[in-house]
Amino acid sequence: MKDDRPSITAYPDGPLLVRGAVDLRNADGEEIVVRRQTVALCRCGLSAIKPFCDGTHKLSHFRTDE
Ligand code: FES
Repeated sequence: MKDDRPSITAYPDGPLLVRGAVDLRNADGEEIVVRRQTVALCRCGLSAIKPFCDGTHKLSHFRTDE
């Protein structure tokens, strides 16, 4: 049975996929408005729309550890 808790999935060589209702805030504690139930957060550090992934990780051949 699936519950309603948010989940975070680390995609190999890609972003963190956040599913469910979460309270997303910037470094100053200000809320980042999220209009979707699923968002991809950048972990390669190269996105132009941080904290969200813009797909740049593919172009840069970002790799995560096994
Ligand atoms: S993880 Fe996708 S742009 Fe950084």
